[in-house]
Amino acid sequence: MTNRYTVIGQPIAHSLSPVVHHLFGDQTLRDIHYTRTEASPESFEQVVLDFQAAGAKGCNVTAPFKEQAVGVCDDVVPLAMRAGSVNTIHMQQDGKRVGHSTDGAGLVADIQNNHSRALNAKRILLLGAGGAARGVVEPLLATKPSHFHIANRTASKASDLATIFSDLGTLSAGGYDALELAEPYDIIINATTPSADGGMPDIPPNVISENTLAYDMTYASLDTVFMQWGKRHRATACNGLGMLVEQAAEAFLIWEGIRPQTQLIFPRLHEILAKTERA
Ligand code: ATR
Repeated sequence: MTNRYTVIGQPIAHSLSPVVHHLFGDQTLRDIHYTRTEASPESFEQVVLDFQAAGAKGCNVTAPFKEQAVGVCDDVVPLAMRAGSVNTIHMQQDGKRVGHSTDGAGLVADIQNNHSRALNAKRILLLGAGGAARGVVEPLLATKPSHFHIANRTASKASDLATIFSDLGTLSAGGYDALELAEPYDIIINATTPSADGGMPDIPPNVISENTLAYDMTYASLDTVFMQWGKRHRATACNGLGMLVEQAAEAFLIWEGIRPQTQLIFPRLHEILAKTERA
């Protein structure tokens, strides 16, 4: 029997999730069918319910519905509940919808395994305090960095976010201007939205050095403005393609009970992406 999944978002036409999950299905010999589904804030809940009623086993949820998805679930695992963000819904056999957040685990796996960078005992700077940032704080803190700072254009939102997670580790927060006296960070993660449309946070150059990994959670085929900024400062820069793959592997594990070997799909994924760009 074919297990059916979808990713729900707005817009959704360019999501790579179906490609990634079908590569996982081929690798693990699982018979899956994974589609893209567009929704609006008004239709989102009904879209999820209709998909489940049609016999599906789960769905991924992407922008702008990750917060709304919490309310569509019967149970939400503690990590996703604290983050206020669900990106994976498991539609169980008993009819329950269980919400998970695999973004943070995906980010950590990508940084540690694919980019070979340790997080433990390192200085981490997280830029942004919106939904994308909330989803990754707990798994990043779990790696026990030496410093974890959240910086945001609106400083109060960064402080509010830090407060939610303050019992899990030492973290500080503030606005971008407060970064002017900071030492360089080992990892800077951009979780703000403007990088997708060509902008980037206004942060001072003292936070970056040639030893920094400048990680943009956005995926784009060309270097993002944040990545260009990182490279200008001779840092290593990357986008969120690996995070997309790793969070998908965590979702596949929840649904199918097996974690695909992500390293094996990257060459094929790059080939497919190159073809799409030429088309
Ligand atoms: P998402 O779910 O993608 O994180 P969000 O919850 O709307 O979206 O959060 C957007 C993030 O990008 C916030 O951190 C926001 O900063 P503010 O809290 O100060 O609004 C940040 N952001 C959006 N536009 C920005 C801009 N032009 N410059 C700097 N940061 C920006």
